Amino acid sequence: MPTPKIDLATKSDEANTSAVVLVWFAADADNKGASGPKYLGGRSKEIDELAHRLTSSHHFAGKKNELSVLRFYGFAGWPCVMLVGAGSSEKFSADVARQLGASVFKCQKKEKLESASVRIDSLLAGVPPQEQPYYLQAFCEGYWLASYEYVFTKPASKEAFYPKKLDLLGAKNSPLKEVVDRGQAIAEAINFARSLGDKPPNILNPAGMATLVTQMAKGRKLKVTVLGQSQMEREKMGALLGVAQGSDFEPKLIQIEYRGGKKGDKPVALLGKGVTFDSGGISIKPAAGMDDMKFDMMGAGTVAGVMQAIADLEIPLNVTGFIGAVENMPSGKAQRPADVVVSSSGKTIEITNTDAEGRLVLADVITYAQKQKPQAMIDVATLTGAVIVALGNAATGIMGNSAALISRIKTAASYTGEKVWELPLFDEYEEDLKTPYADIRNAGNREAGSSKGGIFIKFFVDKSIPWVHCDIAGTANNKSDLNYNPPKGASGAMIRCLTHLLETWQPLQDQKK
Ligand code: BES
Ligand code: MN
Ligand code: ZN
Repeated sequence: MPTPKIDLATKSDEANTSAVVLVWFAADADNKGASGPKYLGGRSKEIDELAHRLTSSHHFAGKKNELSVLRFYGFAGWPCVMLVGAGSSEKFSADVARQLGASVFKCQKKEKLESASVRIDSLLAGVPPQEQPYYLQAFCEGYWLASYEYVFTKPASKEAFYPKKLDLLGAKNSPLKEVVDRGQAIAEAINFARSLGDKPPNILNPAGMATLVTQMAKGRKLKVTVLGQSQMEREKMGALLGVAQGSDFEPKLIQIEYRGGKKGDKPVALLGKGVTFDSGGISIKPAAGMDDMKFDMMGAGTVAGVMQAIADLEIPLNVTGFIGAVENMPSGKAQRPADVVVSSSGKTIEITNTDAEGRLVLADVITYAQKQKPQAMIDVATLTGAVIVALGNAATGIMGNSAALISRIKTAASYTGEKVWELPLFDEYEEDLKTPYADIRNAGNREAGSSKGGIFIKFFVDKSIPWVHCDIAGTANNKSDLNYNPPKGASGAMIRCLTHLLETWQPLQDQKK
C-alpha cells in the first residue's frame, strides 16, 4: 500500500488535472427544496452553471460525505468533477474537514483516479482565516488516515488500485506546507499504531511489540530501553509478572524517551496497557468476540503512536512513554483467583478476577514511571467493558486526580475531534475494593466498573503527581462511525488528542482531588 502524496499547487495547475474536487455545503435548512447545494469558494461561470444544474436536477444535495463523480463533463475543460458534500455550513468543523479528506481518498480509490485536485477555497472559504490552516491539516489527516490498509498477513491483491496524489489548488506559495507535513506526521503515527493493533497476537506478542517499537524509534530522536523478565523480577513487579505467569511469552517493559525540552526538566509520563492478548486468564472470557482481545494492547499502541508523532513534530518537551507488554493466558502456571501478589510498590493485591489484568500491569508500570519523578502522568488502557456500557463506542472515559489535567485533555480532544467524557472517582467506590486478605483487591462487583478500575489505579499513584487515566476500551477499535477509521480494526484513538496536549504543554498548577 503505497502512501499517496499531497502536493501544494497553484490555481492554474487545474488545467492539467484528471479530476477537480469541489466541496459543497448543504442547502440551508429553512430553504429546503427551493435551493440546491451551496458553493462557498470563488465563483465563475462554470460554478454558476454547475450550481444551477444541481439545483434543478436534485442530483446532489451537499449532504455530509455525499459524493458524486461527473465524468466527461465536457465543460470548463474539466475531464472529471468530484463533488463532495460537507453538510450544513453551520455544523462545519475541523473534524468534518477530516472526514471530507477521507471521502476524497475513498472516492479516488473507487473511481480509480490516480490523481485529483481540490480547490481549497471550496473547503475553507467559510472558515475564519486563523483557523484555516488547522482545517486544511485535518483534511490532509483524513486523506492519509483513509489510505491505511492492513497488508501484513494478507497483502493487497495485485489488482488493487491505489490513488497516487492529491493536489491542493491555491495552496502554493502559502505557508501551508508545514500544515500538510504536520497532518502527515500525525496520520502516519496513527497508522503505525493501527498496524500494531491489527497484527495477530501470535506475532504481535510482547517481544514482537518491543521489536516494532524499537524499529519505529530508529532514525528518530527516541531512545528505547526494554526490560525483560529478570529485570522486572529485580524491580519486584509481582502484579505485572503475575499476569504474565500463565503465558509462554516473556513480558516486556518498553520505555521510550523523548527529550525535546530543557535538560533536567521533569518529563511527562505516558503509560500504556499492552496486553497483547487478553483471554481473561483462569477467569476466562466467553469465546464470542474473544478475537477482539488482540486489541487489548492499544493503550500501548497509543503511547507508541504519540511518541512517534511528537518526535516527528519535534515538540519542545521531555516525554517518556512506558509500555507494559504482557499476555494474559490460562495455563497450569497461570495465576488463580484468590492469589495474593506483592506489587512493586510493596502494596499487596488479592486477585479476585484474573480478567482484571490491565490494572495489575499498570500498577507496576506506574511505580516504575514514578521513579523518574514525572511532572504529570497519563495512562491509556482498554481497561473495562463497563466503559462501553456507559459511553458506547462514542467516547473515551477519562478520570483522574487533577481537575486541571482533565480539563486540558477535554480541550485538546475537542480541538482534535475526539470525544472524551469524564467519569467520577468517588471515595464511595473504594469500599468495594477492600479485602481482608490484602491491601486491595483487583475486582469488585459490576457497579461503576470503569470508575473502580480508575480507583484501583489511583491506589498506586503518588498523590503529588497530576494523573489522568484514559479508558479507551470503547474507542480503540470498531470505531466505524467515522469514515477515516477502518470499519473493523484499530482506530488509533487519543493519539491526536494527546499529541496536541503535549505540543501545547504548560506546567500544571492545581489542587489535587
Ligand atoms: N480488556 C478488558 C476490557 C475490555 C472489554 C476491552 C471489552 C475491550 C472490550 C479488561 O481486561 C477486562 O477484562 N476487564 C474486566 C474487568 C472486570 C473483571 C472487573 C471487564 O471489563 O469485564
Ligand atoms: Mn481482562
Ligand atoms: Zn484486558
